[in-house]
Amino acid sequence: MAKRFFIKTFGCQMNVNDSEKMAGLLRDMGYEKAQTPEEADIVIVNTCSVRAKPDNKAYSFIGNLKRLKKRRPDLVVAVAGCVPQKEKEQILRFPHVDLVFGTFNFVKLPQLLERVKREGRVVEILNRKIPEEEKLPLVDSYLENPFIAYVTVQRGCNRFCTYCIVPFTRGRERSVAPHLVVEEVKRLAERGVKEVHLLGQNVDFYGYQGTDLADLLYMVSEVEGVERVRFTTSHPAGFSERIARAIRDIPKVCPYVHLPPQSGSNRVLERMNRGYTREEYIEKVQMLREFVPNVALSGDFIVGFPGETEEDFEQTLSLVEECVFDQAFVFEYSPRPFTKAATFKDDVPKEVKNRRLQTLQELVKKQALERNLERVGKVEEVLIEGFSPKGSELYGRTADNKPVAVEGSEELIGKTVEVEITQASPFFLKGKPVTTGVRSKR
Ligand code: SAH
Ligand code: SF4
Ligand code: F3S
Repeated sequence: MAKRFFIKTFGCQMNVNDSEKMAGLLRDMGYEKAQTPEEADIVIVNTCSVRAKPDNKAYSFIGNLKRLKKRRPDLVVAVAGCVPQKEKEQILRFPHVDLVFGTFNFVKLPQLLERVKREGRVVEILNRKIPEEEKLPLVDSYLENPFIAYVTVQRGCNRFCTYCIVPFTRGRERSVAPHLVVEEVKRLAERGVKEVHLLGQNVDFYGYQGTDLADLLYMVSEVEGVERVRFTTSHPAGFSERIARAIRDIPKVCPYVHLPPQSGSNRVLERMNRGYTREEYIEKVQMLREFVPNVALSGDFIVGFPGETEEDFEQTLSLVEECVFDQAFVFEYSPRPFTKAATFKDDVPKEVKNRRLQTLQELVKKQALERNLERVGKVEEVLIEGFSPKGSELYGRTADNKPVAVEGSEELIGKTVEVEITQASPFFLKGKPVTTGVRSKR
């Protein structure tokens, strides 16, 4: 029987893509995917340390594998990703962990597993990019969804926001050569992928020998078979008119931008070292809406950053009022090791953080509902991804990234369907197909 792997992934899309690559490497070695850790010969925990919550969850997941390892000593337990990258000592305290590696060398998984077989426990944490990283675009990702794929185009971050651990766990910014991105997208399209998400920690700063993100969007959109191109995460200091024009001018590029403001208070933005003011953020959004009036906007926010007053928070609310969001990911500030803000006094009480989080979420919920209600009765193109979790309806997304439950049957999966929107809630639409026609373009 073939050996089996199980990968548990915490964190962002970048981590999800790293896991898909590791799964691809294991598949190429003859492994199959297991449904549970119990059925697996190797369990990899791909960790995230961006906030206290995913960090704690990763530790408890690792802790829970102890019993399994006791029962099955031949099981290989591996810990990867952002947590061991900076805190390998903490991971090494778990005696049942056989392999520890980081964000720079996961491409070497096959060699590392060989070493575990020979040597027992293996720990390899590297601190900078290795040449093998350039082979990653050549590894076929293991796709969870056969129609939608992530493609990492830029790794690392040079910006050092004072709250953020990412520059420490992912290293300096580096971009993937455009011909390698296009080659990967072509192979994905040949495998039936319809939608690609170009990923970068700050994807707007993508740059490779004169090729910028706008150029890359043109290049990727030329790949036959690809119907939709998305990109994330944007940074307000990097998001340019060239990118806004590319969204407007390239039919395949989706009118959706994730542009995290973090805060609407200049005082807080400055202390976060974000590199822009609230006025500049608002201007960027205005510029974007001038080029792409129907664009959907989402963002990340941190509430309760050290020293954030009620007045600062009011400024965030007023920025949200002014910009209008379709979705917001709101996080309570938590101090992270190695960051500058960890030296600031974490002085906003937990209850206040929580209240601010609720207030901000309520405001965005109201805005999102208003925007979604306007769509009832309209016809939208929806790429059907599969069945909804309940299984009774189909599930897909509009070009601007709204999830839609669609009436219909299996043969629509993987197709772009015209859907009449019949119902709206803040973050979800419902609809029924107008025709079952297949569209190749938006
Ligand atoms: N530019 C990156 C940001 C990664 S972190 C990207 O999106 O690829 C994702 C989000 O986590 C950030 O936008 C921020 O809102 C939040 N975050 C980061 N560090 C945090 C901290 N110490 N406390 C609370 N939230 C944090
Ligand atoms: Fe973190 Fe800031 Fe870099 Fe984003 S831009 S990864 S929030 S340091
Ligand atoms: Fe988490 Fe690392 Fe991504 S800390 S958010 S997995 S870059």
